[in-house]
Amino acid sequence: MKLAILSAAPTAYSTRRLKQAAAERGHEVKVLNTLRFAIDLEKGDPDLHFRSKAISDYDAVLPRIGASITYYGTAVVRQFEQMDVYTPNTANGITNSRDKLRAMQILSRHDIGIPHTAFVRARADVLPAIERLGGAPVIIKIIEGTQGIGVILAETTKVAEAIIETLQTAKQNVLIQRFVKESKGKDIRALVVGDTVVAAMRRVAQGDEFRSNVHRGGIAEPVELDAAYRQTAVRAAQIMGLRFAGVDMLEANDGPQVLEVNSSPGLEGIEGATGLDVAGTIVEYIANQVNFPEIDIRQRLTVSRGYGVADLLIPEGSELVGITIGESQLRDRDIAILNLHRGTTIISNPKGSRVLEAGDRLLCYGKLEEMRGLVPEKQRRKRKITAKALDPQLLEDLGDS
Ligand SMILES: Nc1ncnc2c1ncn2[C@@H]1O[C@H](COP(=O)(O)OP(=O)(O)O)[C@@H](O)[C@H]1O
Ligand SMILES: [Mg+2]
Repeated sequence: MKLAILSAAPTAYSTRRLKQAAAERGHEVKVLNTLRFAIDLEKGDPDLHFRSKAISDYDAVLPRIGASITYYGTAVVRQFEQMDVYTPNTANGITNSRDKLRAMQILSRHDIGIPHTAFVRARADVLPAIERLGGAPVIIKIIEGTQGIGVILAETTKVAEAIIETLQTAKQNVLIQRFVKESKGKDIRALVVGDTVVAAMRRVAQGDEFRSNVHRGGIAEPVELDAAYRQTAVRAAQIMGLRFAGVDMLEANDGPQVLEVNSSPGLEGIEGATGLDVAGTIVEYIANQVNFPEIDIRQRLTVSRGYGVADLLIPEGSELVGITIGESQLRDRDIAILNLHRGTTIISNPKGSRVLEAGDRLLCYGKLEEMRGLVPEKQRRKRKITAKALDPQLLEDLGDS
């Protein structure tokens, strides 16, 4: 394949390793400075220029977008997407994960551990928010911080209030987060490629530092993750819309808690700690996807009038409980089931012989009117059900599967 690595840091370890891994596998690979692209828009013809010359045909791009150029970088990635060039991480995925608040908001509706987090604006709301998190000490975080910069441990409520006020005066948006004491100075970084954790390490802070970032002196050691941690990492990356991600998790008493999902994870620490060829794994994954890429249904599906996607919850006492999908005759009512969520399991393309249970959630595509008819009035008002005509922009804005 012909691969472009989008990076403003061609000499950085990760960029060099990715380029080398692609070349070793016989791919044509170039590192292109993200900031030297020019985006060209005309009716029916999204185009890109690089260093003022029309760009040649690439099969795939691997974006390495630093936090300082998120806006421009994601615009370039989005442009490649419009031109049908494969990318493991979409502009949408990068945007979702870059903003710590946005990421937590999207994750919080799923069955995924996260530290209890609050976001407030008015000074009068700070104290009650800290109390809801269980009181001081609390963590205060700048929303777009990286490498541990902008993550502060406030020992008392007074200190927390003062820090928040100072940061807000400096026009910084901050999160307040429960301090997960039992994980003090430690965290887990899991590297996800596709639907698999391909490498994992535990980072341990040195001295009395509570932040375990390698840039703050944290020392990495390889770790064998159990199923709960692997599943949490893979699902968090999936929910963000990233096929290549570094998922940071705290080891809380009740299991993994996701701190953040990084869309341009560094390779030096993890390859050094584990001895694994992570660069090679991601290159091979991309090469596989190029031939038969998964597409983002939200961006591609244009539907006929009156059709759309809906998430149907089967309530207790529903006529559908206890019968098979075949017997439900949903297909005859112009409703196709894409997948079935039961607890934490997802059954894709469920068979006609599968018996439906109360509490199942069906992701359906079909006639909206028919689907609406399956939802009791009361539930509709409780907003449990989200049936939206597939307005691509609207769904993109939701940013979440
Ligand atoms: N709620 C928390 N409880 C305990 N430690 C935390 C918490 N949040 C962050 N930390 C520590 O601070 C480090 C940096 O936080 P993180 O949210 O990952 O920000 P950054 O993007 O700067 O890495 C983490 O790796 C972890 O060691
Ligand atoms: Mg981090």
